Amino acid sequence: MFSRRQFLGAGASAVGAAIIAPPWRVAASDTPFLELEAKPATALLAGPDKTPVSIWGYQGTVPGPVVRVRRGDRVRVRLKNGLEQPTTIHWHGIRIANAMDGVPGLTQDAVPPGGTFDYSFTAPDAGTYWYHSHAKTWEQIARGLYGVLIVEEETPPKVDQDLAFVADDWRLEKAGQIDEASFGAMVDWSHGGRMGNWLTINGLTEPDIPVRAGERIRLRLVNTANARTMTFNFGRLSAQIVALDGQPVPQSSPGAEGVILAPAQRADLIIDIDAKPGETIPVWEVSTRHRLQAAQFVLSDKPPVRQRPPDEPVILAPNPLRAELNPDDAEQIELVMEGGAMGGLREGTIDDRVLSIQELVEKKLVWAFNGKAGMQIKPLATVPKGRTAVINMVNKTAFPHAMHMHGYHFQVIERDGKPVRGAPWRDTELVQRNEQVRIAFVADNPGKWLFHCHMLEHAAAGMITWFEVA
Ligand code: C2O
Ligand code: CU
Repeated sequence: MFSRRQFLGAGASAVGAAIIAPPWRVAASDTPFLELEAKPATALLAGPDKTPVSIWGYQGTVPGPVVRVRRGDRVRVRLKNGLEQPTTIHWHGIRIANAMDGVPGLTQDAVPPGGTFDYSFTAPDAGTYWYHSHAKTWEQIARGLYGVLIVEEETPPKVDQDLAFVADDWRLEKAGQIDEASFGAMVDWSHGGRMGNWLTINGLTEPDIPVRAGERIRLRLVNTANARTMTFNFGRLSAQIVALDGQPVPQSSPGAEGVILAPAQRADLIIDIDAKPGETIPVWEVSTRHRLQAAQFVLSDKPPVRQRPPDEPVILAPNPLRAELNPDDAEQIELVMEGGAMGGLREGTIDDRVLSIQELVEKKLVWAFNGKAGMQIKPLATVPKGRTAVINMVNKTAFPHAMHMHGYHFQVIERDGKPVRGAPWRDTELVQRNEQVRIAFVADNPGKWLFHCHMLEHAAAGMITWFEVA
C-alpha cells in the first residue's frame, strides 16, 4: 500500500474545512470584471505543520477562487498574468463563444507576463465546470493554475450543503516541494503522463468535511490531475451520481469500486449522511495499487437533521443541449490514436512533412492522431454548422486516453463495434487501450475547437488536434 505518510514523514494531520468558501458570484450586467491573477504563491498542501509548498495559483490560492454564476449569466473575468511565462484561461466544459475559449494560437494570443485579457461569456448550461490555464498546461496546471466554475440551476435541488471536492495528484520531491526537475521528463510523456505521489482535496491533505447526521450533501467532484484517473469510494455512505461533466444524468449508483474520474472529468453526487452524530467516515481514493484516504466526513455531535434520508430522488433539469443527433447523415471523422511507449510509431507528419521517429523524439512528439504529431495548420475536419459530426476513435496505443472536446458535449454511440444508446453527454471520455469508441455531436457552435487528450503530457507530446465548424 502506498502511503503519503511514509513519503513525507509522519505527522500530517487532517485540517481545515473543505467547504468551498467564499462562493464568488459574478453576475449582473453591471458587475465589474472579477480579477484572477495567475501568480506564484505558497500553499500548505502537505499539512499545516509542513513547509509551505511553492505553487502557482489564481489569486495565489490552489484551487483558485470558486467562480459561481447562475445559468445564462454573463461571466466577466479579467486574467492578469503575474507569471514569468505566457498564459491563458480555458473554461473547461462550457459551450462557449469561440473567441473566449482560451486556446493560445487558435482562439487568442497568449497573455504575456504583466498582460491582461478580459473574458466575457454566458454559461448556457448549469452544472459543475472548471477553469484552468491552457498554456504549457503540463507545467501550469501541475503547479496549481485551476479552479471550479459552478453554474447554478434556476431551481437547484434541495440539499443541506453544496460542496466542491477538487482532487489533485501532486508530484513532490523529498523536501516536499513540487518536483520541478521532472517537468518534461520523456519517461512520463511517452508513458502514462506525470503521475504524482501526493493527493490533495481542495488543496489540503485529508481535510475534514464537517457535516451533521442526516444531511443531504451535493458533492461536486473534479479531477484536476495531469494524468491520473482516480476512483472515489465513500465507504458505507451511498453516493448517487446525478450529473457527469456538468450534464444531468438519471440518478444512478456508481460501480462497487466507486466513482471513476479520468483527468478533467467531473461528477455531481448526492450523498446522504446516514450515520450517527460524532462519527467519522473516510473517503477513499482507490486504485489497483493503492488505497488512500482522501478526506473524511466528520459528523458533529448535534442530533440528526432528519431521521431517515429524504425519499425524493434528485433530478436535475436538463440543459438546453441540442440533442437531435442525425448520425445517418453525419460528417464521418476517423481518429486513429498511435504512438507512445510500446506503440510502434515509426514516423509522423507535421503539416505534410514526414519525420522519422528519431526526428519526432527530438521534438518531443511521440504520439500521433492519424499519423500527424501535434497541432497542424490544417484542421482534422471542417464541419458545416448544424450538421451532426461523428468521430470514430481507435486507440492503437498501450495506454488509456482521456479525450476532451472544446466547445461541445458529445455522446458515445458505439463502443467496440456495439451500439450504445442513451449515453450521458460528456466533454471528456476515457478511451481504454485497444478500444474503439464512436462519439457524436451536433456541430451548432461555430469556431475552431481543440480535441485532445487531457493527460497533459500526451497532449504536449502530440495527442492534440482541432476541427472547424463553419
Ligand atoms: Cu481542460 Cu483543452 O482543456
Ligand atoms: Cu492520452
